Amino acid sequence: MPSVTRGGFSSRIGFILAAAGSAVGLGNIWKFPYEAGKNGGAAFLVVYFLLTFLFCYPIMVGEIAIGRRAGKDVYGSYKLLGNKNWGLLGLLGILCGIMILSFYNVVAGWAFGYFLEISFGNLLSEPDYGKFFGNYVNDFWDNLLFSLGFMAITAYIVAKGVKQGIEAASKIMMPALLLILLLLIGYSLTLPNAMKGISFYLLPDFSKITLDTIYPAMGHAFFSLSLGMGALITYGSYVEKKQNIMSAAFTITIMDMSVAFLAGLMIFPLIFSQGVAPDSGPSLVFVVLPSIFKAFGPVLGKVVGGSFFLLLCFAALTSTISLLEVPVAYFVDEKNVSRQKVTWLIAAVIFIVGLPSMLSQGVVPAFNKLHFYHDKTALDFVAEVFSELCLPLGGCLMCLFIVLRWGQHNMSKEIYEGNPGYEGSFLEKYINFTMRYVCPILLGIFSILIVLDKLFSVTLDDLTGLLGVR
Ligand code: PHE
Repeated sequence: MPSVTRGGFSSRIGFILAAAGSAVGLGNIWKFPYEAGKNGGAAFLVVYFLLTFLFCYPIMVGEIAIGRRAGKDVYGSYKLLGNKNWGLLGLLGILCGIMILSFYNVVAGWAFGYFLEISFGNLLSEPDYGKFFGNYVNDFWDNLLFSLGFMAITAYIVAKGVKQGIEAASKIMMPALLLILLLLIGYSLTLPNAMKGISFYLLPDFSKITLDTIYPAMGHAFFSLSLGMGALITYGSYVEKKQNIMSAAFTITIMDMSVAFLAGLMIFPLIFSQGVAPDSGPSLVFVVLPSIFKAFGPVLGKVVGGSFFLLLCFAALTSTISLLEVPVAYFVDEKNVSRQKVTWLIAAVIFIVGLPSMLSQGVVPAFNKLHFYHDKTALDFVAEVFSELCLPLGGCLMCLFIVLRWGQHNMSKEIYEGNPGYEGSFLEKYINFTMRYVCPILLGIFSILIVLDKLFSVTLDDLTGLLGVR
């Protein structure tokens, strides 16, 4: 029985901002700069941009087309256009959504806590931010409060529905995010040594690019664009037929890449202005940046630091709502239950599922070192398995679904609606070719490499060494 309460986006811009909001998140502002810092600055940028346009864009188009054609949640879409067995792929997507949100919300909670501590507390008088961060993520009550708060805000927005909740929130937060980002860039470019940061960021060092950088870049591109788990199938199901999928997907991709690029443009001058090493990894945002904000003095530090963490919260929030929407849409569409009730229930369950990740930074030693997973933390385990591995795998299976089951001609037909010029175009041939041959093969290989790397600690360099290729 079709659900009467599905709702939908009211406008093209509403959909684009919501989908771009899903894409733009911690991945862009927290993870991208430190990945770039570690992997040769601009060289990483070039590889990342190429992968995104050549391979991820077609996948995004495919996801939106599936969702709009079926007009259902991710499970319902695969089942309707495929069969019950393909529906399992949808269930995998829902599982990924739940698991990714479970750890993502923990990190978002840290950002939320930092925002409050910088704006209203005395974070800027801390003597040692490494220690502070260690204590902070170890503090049970702080963690509980902030991640619970973040999940509650997410649930509040999702419970309000697609138009009044997700679209309305994205229409406010995305422009605000861009504005804050541009202001911060403007400011950081005026700092001493800013140009050193820019040239580190923008002059490519291709010697740092090895095959071992390429497949994490692909994994990151999938995560950053919210691909491979049906977030965009779900959002696509709320899009009107008159809209042009190709150009919408293009705009979303450009927005995501631009924010990642701009985040680097903001962060590297900040880092170089204080003479800090640019490759400090995940702690970059939570340890290095606060010490830089402190150096700005109590007033300016509060303004710049508070704005930065507000930016991070907005980015994370538009992503957490898309993650929560995936399981919520499943229950609304398939089980015909009220969005209001089920949203809060699912949010509570996901919060509980996230407890091991939340407690994995030291509070509970057993979650800090998982013996079955190279002594890594529970948060690393969930992040690596469900985002780094499952998303490219989900993308690979989605291509197979389109090629082997739904049919590429059906996908094309869906895209013609709202874009008659697509028929017979070069782009159509390119998308069909990559979806049939390049993406499934490449993503299949990536998935195998990631399994070898994550589960068995065998890297590509080890493999090529073994085979005597290098
Ligand atoms: N794209 C988001 C980010 O970059 C994360 C995300 C992944 C959101 C998968 C939805 C689905 O932070």
